Amino acid sequence: MKLFSSVHDVADIKQLVSSALALKASPYAYGDLGKNKTLGLVFMNPSLRTRLSTQKAALNLGMNVMVMNMDKEGWALETQDGIVMNGTTVEHIREAAAVMGEYCDILGLRSFPKLQNRDEDYNEEFFNKFVKFCGVPVVSLESATRHPLQSLADLITITETNPVPIADRAKGIVPKVVLAWAPHIKPLPQAVPNSFAEWMSRAQQEGMLDFTIAQPAGFELAESFTPGAKISHNLDEAIANADYVYVKNWSSYKEYGQILPFPDGWMMDNEKLKLTNNAKVMHCLPVRRDLELASEILDGPNSLVIHEAGNRLWSAQAVLKAMLEEIK
Ligand code: CP
Repeated sequence: MKLFSSVHDVADIKQLVSSALALKASPYAYGDLGKNKTLGLVFMNPSLRTRLSTQKAALNLGMNVMVMNMDKEGWALETQDGIVMNGTTVEHIREAAAVMGEYCDILGLRSFPKLQNRDEDYNEEFFNKFVKFCGVPVVSLESATRHPLQSLADLITITETNPVPIADRAKGIVPKVVLAWAPHIKPLPQAVPNSFAEWMSRAQQEGMLDFTIAQPAGFELAESFTPGAKISHNLDEAIANADYVYVKNWSSYKEYGQILPFPDGWMMDNEKLKLTNNAKVMHCLPVRRDLELASEILDGPNSLVIHEAGNRLWSAQAVLKAMLEEIK
């Protein structure tokens, strides 16, 4: 694997999940694979889980790791070509990415959307230019439109906690997974829900689960990320008999970056949990308690959020292992 930016970069998602679970069982089995290899992690935006889990994953594989907080410690980057750089930007991404590629065998990049111009964000100009000019394999640490390390960790979590008895799986019975929009006070990117939808749609195609998305009218995701997903505007109907509810806020794709008016009743709490099949509740974190998701769920037995965050390590380690095996 030379690029991990979406589910489309993965030939076999079941194999990648199996690889991650094997690494979870035996974290240091490939402790020499990354010897004398360097991972560079470049952050244009804040992070807790992605930063720490990806560093630890690389260390488990014997890699050296360097972290660059580009937004705070780097030169202001220019991405446009053909302009005279007589403004605030100091270094062009052409040189910056190429130089980082000189120091690193694999690079990771986090670059959020600006949420002002949909075409600009969905063209992934910054991420794609970084990939093009750095000249080494790249792992997305969350781009403008996707967060694939998170989505892989989510699929790992669902796979290892699948409540369907083994005998029933042979009959084609699969867990019901619902992506449920939640309220927020800020306009958030669509990267996590886009990516989750893309990975769950692929898992549904491969017979691993049944996938539904629930959001108020106006908050529909771009159709290209949701092939085969059932779409609902009624949270209570959507979560009926759900085995997993994946809670996440996102701003409008149609009215790009806006928080549209929405009806009451979109926050998951213990009353709503009664409608489900005793569902496990997931969230990528960070989460705003009692705005996006009720504390009684986060602190209760149905929450998978810490388990899910723990699996970010195995998600990153499986991807870095697949990349190291190709560049050895
Ligand atoms: N879920 C996630 O990516 O967390 P961070 O933004 O803290 O890395």
